[in-house]
Amino acid sequence: MSGPLRLTFVQSASRVEQLPESPVEVAFVGRSNVGKSSLVNSLANRKQLARVSNTPGRTQLINLFEVESGRSDAGTLVDLPGYGFAKASKAVTRDWPDMIEGYLLDREHLAMVFVLVDGAIGPTKLDVQMLDWLRYNGVPHTVVATKFDKVKSSKRATRRKELAAGCQLDPGDIVWVSSTKGTGIDDLRSLVRTWVA
Ligand code: GTP
Ligand code: MG
Repeated sequence: MSGPLRLTFVQSASRVEQLPESPVEVAFVGRSNVGKSSLVNSLANRKQLARVSNTPGRTQLINLFEVESGRSDAGTLVDLPGYGFAKASKAVTRDWPDMIEGYLLDREHLAMVFVLVDGAIGPTKLDVQMLDWLRYNGVPHTVVATKFDKVKSSKRATRRKELAAGCQLDPGDIVWVSSTKGTGIDDLRSLVRTWVA
């Protein structure tokens, strides 16, 4: 199957225990404002499925979507709240590690975590910490560099190398996307479909 992912919003939760079971799941994690919700919308070719905002910290709960595949054991996709948002309320800042780390460690059938890194500025210190943590805990993950449209064409080759080196990866390991321009969205859809469709 190709074309947009058919996603249906199922539920928001603040703890992994509140989520329904899923046979297979992929999740999107990354700095606040990196473009996680925009990317979920782009994959589905929808505008407001996941809430997008200029205000960092828009997504404050674990948001679960079902991927319609015509099969009864449909997979699911999760949009996670962003990290590194200084102005988030105390409660959000305090609960974030428990919520996200709990989810990443305890979610059964979590097949792949897509770690979004801002293509124009990343990886930040927090991105590197997140990648180290995922490696240390043996959580399968793939780096997706966002906002490709914001990188000048003349800088792209260098930026690809820099970003990969910062993540301790080879440039070929990283999926580059732009939700605004649609760059790389089809490739990412195919990749997502290897698990959830
Ligand atoms: P939180 O929910 O706060 O964790 O943020 P998020 O990672 O879900 O980011 P979101 O998708 O809400 O996008 C944040 C901002 O980046 C919005 O203003 C988007 O319009 C913008 N943005 C997202 N993707 C792109 C992109 O591919 N290119 C450009 N230029 N801007 C983008
Ligand atoms: Mg969001």
